[in-house]
Amino acid sequence: MSQQIDHLLTEDRRFAPPADFVQNAVAKPGIYDEAADDRLSFWAARSRELLHWHTPFTNVLDWSNPPFAKWFDDGKLNVAYNCLDRHVEAGNGDRVAIHFEGEPGDSRSVTYAELTAEVKRVANVLAGLGVGQGDRVAIYLPMIPEAIASLLAVARLGAVHSVVFGGFSADSLRARIDDAGAKVVITADGGYRKGKASALKPAVDQALSDRGDGEQATVEKVLVVRRTEQEVEWTDGRDVWWHDVVPAASAEHEAEAFDAENPLFILYTSGTTGKPKGILHTSGGYLTQAAFTHRNVFDLHPETDVYWCTADIGWITGHSYVTYGPLANGATQVLYEGTPEFPEPGRWWDIIEKYGVSIFYTAPTAVRSFMKQGREIPQKRDLSSLRLLGSVGEPINPEAWMWFREVIGSGLTPIVDTWWQTETGAIMISALPGVTETKPGSAQVALPGVEIDVVDEKGEAVGNDAGGLLVVTDPWPSMLRGIWGDPDRFVETYWKMFADKGFYFAGDGARLDEDGDIWLLGRVDDVMNVSGHRLSTAEIESALVAHDATAEAAVVGASDETTGQAVVAFVILKESFLKDNSAEGLANTLRQWVGEQIGPIARPRDVYIVGELPKTRSGKIMRRLLRDVAEGREVGDTQTLADTAVMSVIARQVK
Ligand code: WT7
Repeated sequence: MSQQIDHLLTEDRRFAPPADFVQNAVAKPGIYDEAADDRLSFWAARSRELLHWHTPFTNVLDWSNPPFAKWFDDGKLNVAYNCLDRHVEAGNGDRVAIHFEGEPGDSRSVTYAELTAEVKRVANVLAGLGVGQGDRVAIYLPMIPEAIASLLAVARLGAVHSVVFGGFSADSLRARIDDAGAKVVITADGGYRKGKASALKPAVDQALSDRGDGEQATVEKVLVVRRTEQEVEWTDGRDVWWHDVVPAASAEHEAEAFDAENPLFILYTSGTTGKPKGILHTSGGYLTQAAFTHRNVFDLHPETDVYWCTADIGWITGHSYVTYGPLANGATQVLYEGTPEFPEPGRWWDIIEKYGVSIFYTAPTAVRSFMKQGREIPQKRDLSSLRLLGSVGEPINPEAWMWFREVIGSGLTPIVDTWWQTETGAIMISALPGVTETKPGSAQVALPGVEIDVVDEKGEAVGNDAGGLLVVTDPWPSMLRGIWGDPDRFVETYWKMFADKGFYFAGDGARLDEDGDIWLLGRVDDVMNVSGHRLSTAEIESALVAHDATAEAAVVGASDETTGQAVVAFVILKESFLKDNSAEGLANTLRQWVGEQIGPIARPRDVYIVGELPKTRSGKIMRRLLRDVAEGREVGDTQTLADTAVMSVIARQVK
């Protein structure tokens, strides 16, 4: 079957960066030529300029044993030193590193000097608990400053962290602890979410309990932060209160230099099927690309900007763009503990106003849920401090992009749509905000130093104005170094498809437009085949969201006797439209609308108006489950859903 994905939508809007933005931009147009001239020298120069190397490297890339890469491998550095001590030594100790905003309304600001001292104390505590280079530490914490301090303390010791998202169950936590062989867990009594204290420690207790299989957990110590004052059960000899040991520990701790390829962290991908993969990242290359992208894509001016990334620490975005990128660059950032709608839907905009946030990085799913609530809510706040907006996690439909720019960015701010993955470690495709003329809905261009292509199933480039499979054709500094404990699966999953070419296969479909700009089309597994035409979910969803009534849409292919597959759409309407219109009438209107926007081939056979869509905890729509409903099957495994009840509601609505 051809991998060509048909192109349906046309987008003509273009936005040049504002003149003052261009003038002060970190990234200048010449950066592309510099990288193209000599890619490896380009990365070596970025690494030397952005990081402190205790022992400078002379090797840049060792690709003698593909797909196992080594970057900067004769150099030594300490990741935490790069994120902390050197800023203090440079005289910036008084700069705020973290403006913490708790969900209940408590707040505190932590300077670089304070964070450095805290991380040194935590490092001393962890060392006392037996943590040393190469040991694995599981981190199961809410979004509080202690979470960032924990990651950095583990990194400081040359140990390896494995952050498990606080929303995961005891079983998922145990599976990840076992897979990594974690020695210590850092957790909290709980955290605040949706106005309530939700517990974390009981899940740790349950995860570490005897599971009846006679296998003991590898964990020796549990370090517990007190956040909510909930009662906790205590296991003497194993559990240690953070507040008993950290404040009492010495704030002297010398950062030892480790090899550039020393493992830094494992992060399990929230794959929709199969055993989670422990994606392994190492130190020097990862930090280089995290720092470079954070500075250039977000145009970071550390002296003046206030940056806010809304991602949880449990995802890769929380690693690269809450922890390592911003701190390596000496940024001031906001850290928010809770949900966007507590105590009311405008909480995020209140936070932007309160701290004068200038750079704001979030997910399309959040943008679409704000669209659903209406523009009146953000318009009641002063968002004039914003000068750059970023998007990540899914394709952002052109209409959501426009709404983001108009309503949140006062019609002026550049938007960077950043494509990357847990596996890539850092941003790979994005506009550079002072250089690129942006197009709503397109992630646009590979970053300087990154080589991307769109190819057919044989690995041949499809060229402009055509669709196919997204690949990375050359190794990059922050690339995953493997899957923890499973090198065969690493090769099989990412490198086998184009083994003869040596391309990394990302699993996404993409299209190059006539200018060569990249449009992400969704996961290849989700592509539909209607009467022999390969249609992407992303484009039909974008057409649906382009209708005034629609807030969010998910499209799947369901088997159909005449067309092979038929397009089935699940749509959430904006609240203002629900009041005066019948669901049935709107469903018909939307079917016709899609037919007009992109053509009869894409017109959905069925449009279901629903109240919610099934999403993973990181906000991605699980189309596999919608396919089950659309085909009238029993709904499959819903364990990875953020809200497991959603599917039964949808199934009932559809019936
Ligand atoms: C998958 C990776 C990268 C941090 C968050 C997600 C999708 C990500 C975009 C974007 C279109 C995107 C892809 C990718 N994706 N960013 N800007 N436009 N799609 O990390 O959980 O590892 O997911 O998210 O499908 O493969 P992740």
